[in-house]
Amino acid sequence: MSSREYNNPSVANRGSDSCVMVIFGATGDLTRRKLIPALYNLAKARLLSPNFAIVGIGSKTMEQEAFNEKMLDAIREYAKDEVDLEILNWFGSRITYVNGDFGDDGLYGRLDAHCQSIKTEKRISNNHFYYLATAPSFFGSIIQKLGAAGMTKEDNESWRRVIIEKPFGRDLASAMELNIEVKNVLKEKQIFRIDHYLGKETVQNLMVLRFANSIFEPIWNRRYIDNVQITASEIVGVGQRGPYYETSGALRDMVPNHLFQLLSLTTMEPPVSFEANAVRDEQTKALRAIQVLTPEEVLARVVRGQYGAGEINGESCIAYRDEEKIEPDSSTETFVAMKLMMDNWRWADVPFYLRTGKRLAARTTEIVINFRKAPFVLFKNTAIDHLQENRLVIHIQPDEGISMQFGAKKPGPIMNLGSVQMDFNYVDAFGATPDTGYERLMLDCMVGDATLFQRADMVETSWNLIQPILDVWNALKPRDFPNYASGSFGPAASDQLLSGDGKKWLNKG
Ligand code: BG6
Repeated sequence: MSSREYNNPSVANRGSDSCVMVIFGATGDLTRRKLIPALYNLAKARLLSPNFAIVGIGSKTMEQEAFNEKMLDAIREYAKDEVDLEILNWFGSRITYVNGDFGDDGLYGRLDAHCQSIKTEKRISNNHFYYLATAPSFFGSIIQKLGAAGMTKEDNESWRRVIIEKPFGRDLASAMELNIEVKNVLKEKQIFRIDHYLGKETVQNLMVLRFANSIFEPIWNRRYIDNVQITASEIVGVGQRGPYYETSGALRDMVPNHLFQLLSLTTMEPPVSFEANAVRDEQTKALRAIQVLTPEEVLARVVRGQYGAGEINGESCIAYRDEEKIEPDSSTETFVAMKLMMDNWRWADVPFYLRTGKRLAARTTEIVINFRKAPFVLFKNTAIDHLQENRLVIHIQPDEGISMQFGAKKPGPIMNLGSVQMDFNYVDAFGATPDTGYERLMLDCMVGDATLFQRADMVETSWNLIQPILDVWNALKPRDFPNYASGSFGPAASDQLLSGDGKKWLNKG
């Protein structure tokens, strides 16, 4: 498939405002693997202001030079395409490190003075962009201390914005508490609750697919759609993240954030504009239309699983309970599948099946729209015994694109049907390699566009849907863990969830 590009010159070149970016948690993995390479990619694309600097804050004692080298290494390792030495050097001259304990009030005075001197030295405007890439337990107190040090105060000429990483709370009550804590210091327009899924091209393309084409919207409803499946399956196991994952599990880690973002963008009504609140109003309305599960429904419609040992791509994998820093009798779920229903005119009676898990057979994130079957009547006197349904698959990763499946006659003298596929693939069409996903989100923050960030009410509505599941699971510990082998598609109960409705997951491979 080839592409013709439609560029709007007025928005094509939207560089970031001049600002100082302060990264809390600068020695962590997220900074190294995603944030710094993404900032470099922005600089390379000439989207980062030349009057820009990064201040890394970390609790590790580190020499300035060692920190810089670590950041430049991260760029060499993770930036897309070949590294441009001139930009790399420019980048190196813009990074400084401040060592300190996030809980120490003294840090913030030092940080403010440090930012002032960098702004003067590099001729940077009085804008501050804080990125909280720390453990969630620090979110509230860092913001409170920034506020107390006068570092969140905006005036007519300057802005102060904060990106808060996930997880935003670990249940409804803690998310509400954190919202209150954060809003005591910041206005909603200063808060950017990030969900990195929204930085993925195909996720953004969902809105374009639905609302910039006239062929999809008329059939995007219960009259034509039979069911929707959203899968985020991973090959990787828990890796080094045991301590975090043991307090989270697959449900908290993936569903109220990533999967619900995909679900709300798939199901929302057309917004009146692409202005941040217009889009987020519609997403929130869609989330509010999802039926809250009763305890009985949790038992019938939600499946949890934990991986046992197995094999993936010829390599043997150990069970979750044998992983580093995992309790040998852990009841943490590494897989979850659920069936949700929505109470509105567009989607009444259409089941939405969601699943996510680690150590599954394939790495794939996709949204599958299964359309209703055509009436069989015309084919009843032919050799054809059934008709396949049409299917639209939105591939979010690893291969970003969209494919459409439909029936076609097989060549030959008798009537026989085959299922064929029409594919659109990002790389083939636009020749662009996907970036880290953080570029767009950080740039949006630096230009003040919150469309792709979660608003307080979205976060709380999502947790409200998850809370009944947490309650039932807390009360009833799983008795069959581990209940799926590494390299499979999850526990048998996940397949039964759909087969009970006469349906099947679309499994890759
Ligand atoms: C993170 C989760 O938010 O998303 C991880 O904490 C998960 O457990 C990751 O692996 C998946 O993101 P991606 O972009 O690799 O699909």
